[in-house]
Amino acid sequence: MLGNHAVNPPVVLAPMAGITNVAFRRLCREQGGGVYVCEMITTRALVERIPKTLKMIAFAEDEGFRSLQLYGVDPDVTAAAVRMVGERNLADHVDLNFGCPVPKVTRRGGGSALPWRRKLFGRIVRQAVDAAAEFGIPLTIKMRKGIDEDHLTYVEAGLTAQDAGVAAVALHARTAEQRYSGQADWDAIATLKQALDVPVLGNGDIWEGSDALRMVAHTGVDGVVVGRGCLGRPWLFADLEAAFTKGGDYQPVLPSLGEVAKIMSRHAQLLVEALEDERHGCADFRKHVAWYLKGFPVGGDLRRSLAMISSLAELDDLLGKLDPAIPFPVESLGQPRGRINAPGKVSLPHGWLDSRDDDTVPEGAETDESGG
Ligand SMILES: Cc1cc2nc3c(=O)[nH]c(=O)nc-3n(C[C@H](O)[C@H](O)[C@H](O)COP(=O)(O)O)c2cc1C
Repeated sequence: MLGNHAVNPPVVLAPMAGITNVAFRRLCREQGGGVYVCEMITTRALVERIPKTLKMIAFAEDEGFRSLQLYGVDPDVTAAAVRMVGERNLADHVDLNFGCPVPKVTRRGGGSALPWRRKLFGRIVRQAVDAAAEFGIPLTIKMRKGIDEDHLTYVEAGLTAQDAGVAAVALHARTAEQRYSGQADWDAIATLKQALDVPVLGNGDIWEGSDALRMVAHTGVDGVVVGRGCLGRPWLFADLEAAFTKGGDYQPVLPSLGEVAKIMSRHAQLLVEALEDERHGCADFRKHVAWYLKGFPVGGDLRRSLAMISSLAELDDLLGKLDPAIPFPVESLGQPRGRINAPGKVSLPHGWLDSRDDDTVPEGAETDESGG
């Protein structure tokens, strides 16, 4: 449950900047039930009504439960942004992002650096929950384990958020230092689940429906949050729904290359519609090409041309060169996809680690640069 909304199956499409826009969410929603979170929006840009930001808050008419992620570092600005969401009826659910590991953000004390400043974190979450409550909007948080293994914050932050009245807490079970490397620590998710009474959502390394079942069995979480696993594979949400309804012996969807080509074409078409510009939509689609073709025997030249398309006609022409009968490369199942970068020391403001109870609002920590 998120507030009064039953989430069935207990699956959440993770917010991914530059990916989970209205077009991609639609492709995913058509496959199965769950909550599908919009791209992250920065609170300051929202309250300042930056046109580009307002445009990013786009939901389809049939999007029953509109889920929006906000990123903020200032309790007052965050509360004002949440209030604006309520007043303008922009969404039905708000999630706050405390997981961004991007150096530009942590260097200023934002994202995954912020929960370390426990008082500031508490103020942000409390004020946001209170603002959301005025409109009956459930508010959740999404965070990482901490800055690094010596500076873990997730249990304490989860308890603080619970006291503040959040509807659920999601944990991406990596530290900021790990970025997207190594394996997510599902034991940490189990620890958090044991520590909290509010629903806990587990996140990290769900590549198949069976992984979601394994995570639930291992941790006891109330639901799963799925990010990179669905890149170039929106049908993963059909697998997730099948896994949760049928259990371990569901049959995964294994589209042939011809079927994948149809989804690619549709995805590009939806992006063009969403961005109201063919060139722009096609340029945005390029980043998805390698994910869709992962594991399929497609030559380098064709892959490169597909990753440079600038019109829908060009895309369809190139897709026509693929052999539609090629079966899905089952050896790519269960394999990581998307970002898998190396760990890196977390850039922090001077003295950050020595002053946990300082609740000064960090300056310059809200940028368009985003991620979790
Ligand atoms: C391209 C990309 C963009 C992301 N953007 C966000 C974001 O805006 N907000 C957020 O909370 N997490 C963001 N994340 C992190 C994911 O939501 C998720 O926590 C992470 O990928 C781990 O889950 P996974 O193993 O299922 O991918 C992003 C991840 C990727 C790969």
